Formats: sequence, C-alpha cells, structure tokens
Amino acid sequence: MKLLNAAGFFALVPTVVLALEPITTSLAIGGGAAVMWQLLSQDSWLKCHFWECCSVKDSLDIPALKKGLKWEVFGQHLATHVVLKALSANAKVKRPAKPLVMSFHGWTGTGKSFISKIIAKNLYPLEEIRRRFVHQFDAVLHFPHAEHVNRYKEQLQNWIRGNVSACPRSLFIFSEMDQMPHGLIDSILPYLSHHGEIDGVYYGKAIFLFLNNAGGDTITEVALDYWRQQKGREEIPLKDLQSQISQEIFNNRNSGFWQSKLIQRNVVDYFIPFLPLEYTHVRECVRVELRFQGHHEDEDLITEIALAMADYPSNERLYSSKGCKTVASKVNLNI
Ligand SMILES: Nc1ncnc2c1ncn2[C@@H]1O[C@H](COP(=O)(O)OP(=O)(O)O)[C@@H](O)[C@H]1O
Ligand SMILES: [Mg+2]
Repeated sequence: MKLLNAAGFFALVPTVVLALEPITTSLAIGGGAAVMWQLLSQDSWLKCHFWECCSVKDSLDIPALKKGLKWEVFGQHLATHVVLKALSANAKVKRPAKPLVMSFHGWTGTGKSFISKIIAKNLYPLEEIRRRFVHQFDAVLHFPHAEHVNRYKEQLQNWIRGNVSACPRSLFIFSEMDQMPHGLIDSILPYLSHHGEIDGVYYGKAIFLFLNNAGGDTITEVALDYWRQQKGREEIPLKDLQSQISQEIFNNRNSGFWQSKLIQRNVVDYFIPFLPLEYTHVRECVRVELRFQGHHEDEDLITEIALAMADYPSNERLYSSKGCKTVASKVNLNI
C-alpha cells in the first residue's frame, strides 16, 4: 500500500514538470530535488509518509522528555529522575552494547503506564509510526494460560526477533508483569544480555520496559516509615529501594521475576520505584481530569474526590491505594 503510494508519486512528477512554464519548471525541478532529497535522506518525514520508517529521528528528544516528565507526572521524583538519566545516557551512545532494560515497580495507578506512554511518544511522536515500532504486551491479555508457557516462549522470541530485525529502535512494554507465567520472561534473556549480534540481528538499540505492581508494598512501607519518622519523601534513598525491589521480586512467586535469570544475570539496568501517591498528588490528577473534560476546576469537588481516595493506611489515610487510576470515573460520577 505504502509502496504503491510512492510509485504513484514518482509517476506523476515528470507529467507535472512538462506541463509548466520554464521558470515554473526550474522551480518545480528545484522542488523535485528537495522532494528527492527528502525521500533519500534517512530522517525524512516525507519518506516516512510513504514507507514504514523506523526511528524518524534516532535520538530521543531529551529536553522535551524532561519537560513532559516534570509537568505531567506528579509525586514520582525518583522515577522521573532515573528514567531521564537512563534515557539521556542511552541517547548519547551510537551503538549500545545491550538494550536498555528498565523495570517499573509500584502500586496500581501510580503512573507506570503513564510514564511509559510519555517515553513512547517521545521516541515516536507520530502516532502511525508509534503503532509500528512500540510494542505492548499485557501478561493478562497475551499470556493467560500458565500451561501454555512453552508456546508463549517461542512466540515471544519470534516476536522480539522479528520486530527488532524490522526496526532496531523498537520499544517493548510488558505490562502486568506480576501476572506473567513463571519462567516466560527468561526466554528473552539472550536478547537482553547479548553483546553484539545474534544471527545477524543487533539488539542494542531496543528498549524494554517491564511494568510491575510487585514491589509496591515494599516501596509503600519504606515511604510510610520515612513519613512516620517525619522525614520527607524526597529523603528516601533510591539505592536502598532499588536493591530491596530486586530482592523482593526475585523471591516473590507473583512478580513475573521469581527466581528469574534476568535478575541473576543483572540484565535489568534500572529498578525504578513508583512511590504511593498522596492526597496532594491525587488533587492534581483530579484537576487535570476536570480540565481535560472541559469542566470548571471546582476546588470543593477536587478536595472531595481526593479526600475520598486517600485511604491507606486506614488510620492516617496518607496514600491512595488506587493511585490516580479511578480519578476519571470519580469525576464523571460527580459532575
Ligand atoms: N504520578 C502520576 N502523575 C500524573 N498522573 C498520573 C500519575 N499516576 C497515574 N496518573 C493518571 O492515572 C492514570 C492511570 O495510571 P497508570 O499510569 O495507568 O497506572 P499504573 O501505575 O497502574 O500503570 C494515568 O493515565 C494518568 O492519567
Ligand atoms: Mg499499568
């Protein structure tokens, strides 16, 4: 379909040029050269319009990413800091030795999918192209039966090999990792750890994101502990949390990483904690949702919804156990 479009375009160019006056013709030739240049250059938007185009711009737009993370994401200073650092470092390397692998951990509704969407949009701003090179796997949807794990292993390997062959700068997002059948994720170990090519395919430019509710309780306990000691959320040390997360998911049967070789061989570059969201963060989510739906930012309503959502622990009611997940439906109910 795309190739036909391109062929049709080339067939039209001489006819159009012949029908024009000399000045117009030279302009048209100049224009034609510009079009040719667009079609031949690697980063051309025009070429990408006609052909499947992998990574229109090979590097991430780090300033735009920084802005998006800063203004759109609430209460996740640790996660946004690590994500930005990891992607900035990756963007600078022309031929990374291995894919970038990040594992997001935290309670539901804290922004794991949200941040992965921000990354995907930054990597592939055009929706049509994003659909081709950003691949999302949902463990519940795609791997529902633990007894079929061997078949899934093969499918997963083929799928990654095929997509990385088509586009080295592919982004893979595995959501609901905690629902993944035991042993499945280990099947992609060679692609994540191998330095160099495997059967002629180079994997170093790919990016893998694992989204996991496992580890969320540990993160919340640490955050709560800090709060009880009257220390700020900003004082929580990242290093301690990261090692606690990796230990917990390795020992937790319901993490997708139980006794996983991915952990043993250290192929996960970053374990990224998503802190539980507090009342003030939920307020911001409600505000954004009201704005998004075109409603007036009613402060009383914002307070009411955010107060109702801050439900954990039952005495202190400091955090929202659903994060911002149900904000949209709460807004709909109350409007
Ligand atoms: N930290 C956050 N900052 C801003 N909005 C958030 C945040 N966390 C969640 N949200 C909002 O709630 C929705 C659901 O969150 P999501 O990212 O899907 O949670 P999960 O951590 O379960 O993947 C998001 O689409 C976003 O609108
Ligand atoms: Mg999610």
